[in-house]
Amino acid sequence: MSLEFSAQARQRIERLLTQYPTAQAALLPVLHLAQDEFGHLSDEALHLVADTLKLPPAHVFGVITFYTMFHRENTGRNELMVCTNVSCMLRGGYDILHHIESRLGIKAGQSTPDGCFHLVEEECLAACANAPMMICGPEYHLDLTPQKVDTILDDLRRRWQERAKQAVPAGGISGTSSGPVGTKTIMGIGPGPGHKS
Ligand code: FES
Repeated sequence: MSLEFSAQARQRIERLLTQYPTAQAALLPVLHLAQDEFGHLSDEALHLVADTLKLPPAHVFGVITFYTMFHRENTGRNELMVCTNVSCMLRGGYDILHHIESRLGIKAGQSTPDGCFHLVEEECLAACANAPMMICGPEYHLDLTPQKVDTILDDLRRRWQERAKQAVPAGGISGTSSGPVGTKTIMGIGPGPGHKS
C-alpha cells in the first residue's frame, strides 16, 4: 500500500498552502509534518511530499539532504542537536553541550550504547533569541540550563523506554506526546520567510 498522509495532516497541509505564497515556500513545514507523521523521510515520503506540492522530487531530495534536521532513516533514537553557533556559544552553548556529554558519557557525534541518544553539535538552528538551545525530533528546547537539560533527558529517556515497551511499528511516533515545560514543536515555533498570517 502506498504511503498517504492522515486526514489531519492533509488538513494541516491545506492550511499551510494558504499561508505561504507558493507551494515551494511551504516545503519546509510540509517536510517537518511528513517527518512527524512517518518518523523519517523515506523515498516514499519524499515522493508523497513532491506529489502533494507538485514539486520535482529532485528538488525535495535536495532540501531533505541539505538540512540536518531531516532524517532519511528511522533510527528510533533521540537525535540531540545542540547549537554552538555564535548566539548560543555566547550564552553557554558549549556548557550545555559538555553537560550533555558528561551526563550521557559520550562525545558529540556518538550514540549512547543503549541507542537512546545520538548527540550532534550543530550550527545555527534559527532560535537565536532563545539561546542556548537544542532540537530533538520535532521539539525545540529553548533557554537551556543544565537543570533543564537534565529534565529533558530524563523525559526523553522515559518516553523512549515507553515506546520500546509498546514496540511501536516502523512509521514512527505521531509526535502528539507532550514534552517538558518550555518545549515548542518545530511546527509551532513560528512561520518562516514568506509566511502570511
Ligand atoms: S546561534 Fe544557536 S540558534 Fe542561532
